[in-house]
Amino acid sequence: MASSSPAGSTKPPSQGPLGLATHPLRPSDIRSDSVEGARSPLDVAAIRRDFPILSRRVHGHRLVYLDNAATTQKPLVVLERLNHYYRSTNANIHRGIHRLAEEATALYEETREHTARFLAATDPRGVVFTSGATGALNLLASSWGHWLRPGDEILLTEMEHHSNLVPWFLVARERGAQVRHIPVTEDGRLDLTRLGELLTERTRIVSLTQVSNVLGTINPIRAIADAAHAVGALVSVDAAQGAPHHAIDVQALGCDALSFSAHKVLGPTGVGVLWVKPDLLERMEPYQGGGEMIREVQMDGATWAEIPHRFEAGTPNIAGVVALGPALDYVERLGYDAIGRHGEAIITYALDRLRGLGGLRILGPTDPTERSGAIAFADPVVHPHDLSTVLDQEGVAIRAGHHCAQPLHRRYGLVATARASFYIYNDRDDVDALVAAIESARRYFG
Ligand code: ALA
Repeated sequence: MASSSPAGSTKPPSQGPLGLATHPLRPSDIRSDSVEGARSPLDVAAIRRDFPILSRRVHGHRLVYLDNAATTQKPLVVLERLNHYYRSTNANIHRGIHRLAEEATALYEETREHTARFLAATDPRGVVFTSGATGALNLLASSWGHWLRPGDEILLTEMEHHSNLVPWFLVARERGAQVRHIPVTEDGRLDLTRLGELLTERTRIVSLTQVSNVLGTINPIRAIADAAHAVGALVSVDAAQGAPHHAIDVQALGCDALSFSAHKVLGPTGVGVLWVKPDLLERMEPYQGGGEMIREVQMDGATWAEIPHRFEAGTPNIAGVVALGPALDYVERLGYDAIGRHGEAIITYALDRLRGLGGLRILGPTDPTERSGAIAFADPVVHPHDLSTVLDQEGVAIRAGHHCAQPLHRRYGLVATARASFYIYNDRDDVDALVAAIESARRYFG
């Protein structure tokens, strides 16, 4: 690619606030000539044909979509289900006694059953549909928060997304509880040597991400859940970045609650899933009040509907939930074994190529088998926002900023990073386009 300036940009070379001086390069960031890595078991060309958006052009270039940790693109089956639902079935659910309402209710409840199977949960009553993973975590924090007393502790980690930090801050402040954190190591792992001291009889809740949206680190959920349960704490898993890449089995993970977003697993935006052990969900206070979450309402009080309806006040995103079904079908048809091997192959290749550029500071574990999805990095010269702008001119879409993980960036002395995140329709050509565009940005910024 030419080293011409991006359209409309007359900016001088960037001096981004990267704090690199205090963080010299590690050996793993130095050039490696190896571009080894297992071949993908997926037929990426065939998969790409299922995603109409991938054939569009951006600034005259082929779209190279590497912002999958923010949201994934949607296959035709999801688009068609949305369209078909609105054209043929649209009605409110659990209310009407007419043909459309019954069909819509059946589709919605079938998706609940499907989602339960997707999570290896035995009882669909544990599945609550929310507005997103953020909605799920706010519901959980608010409801579990009712059980907190002054002096109780909530244990989070330093690698959490803001949506698994701020809701807990709100309830901690209200209930006089303390928030503590499992720190991360320099190479992007949870420092579990601290777990023994951080988990005490005061710990009531442990909430952590399965996969970091910045580091890509895959956390050892089962071990942490077992340790948390040993002190009597409840365990919540944020699987927003985990569910796209790993088969979820809530029994095997050993958690009490788990949340994820539909839109990061090929589904529509505006739908989240909160799974809670049904016997626990039974004991939880509702989060929002309104239609369809009650059994009976008097002028001065109300009793609650059965679970999970108690937690679904108002009209939900019915079409979005219904279209989650074909999204889950799509990933299940590919199979998580193949999705996982494809993800590992592409991360291996991308890490090698990015290291080959020399000078990039790449966050997270150096071993590709310990990470999935995203690679965040900082260039010593080009600020992430400038990098993202130049990449966009080449049709390469990445995310730049703090990725809603400011404490984690602060931990590494950074304000922002660039992040490329991959999914089933990305291939080596996409990685090559990313690397070429970074080289081009470096030339432009000197
Ligand atoms: N949580 C999403 C991300 O990391 C939006 O980009």
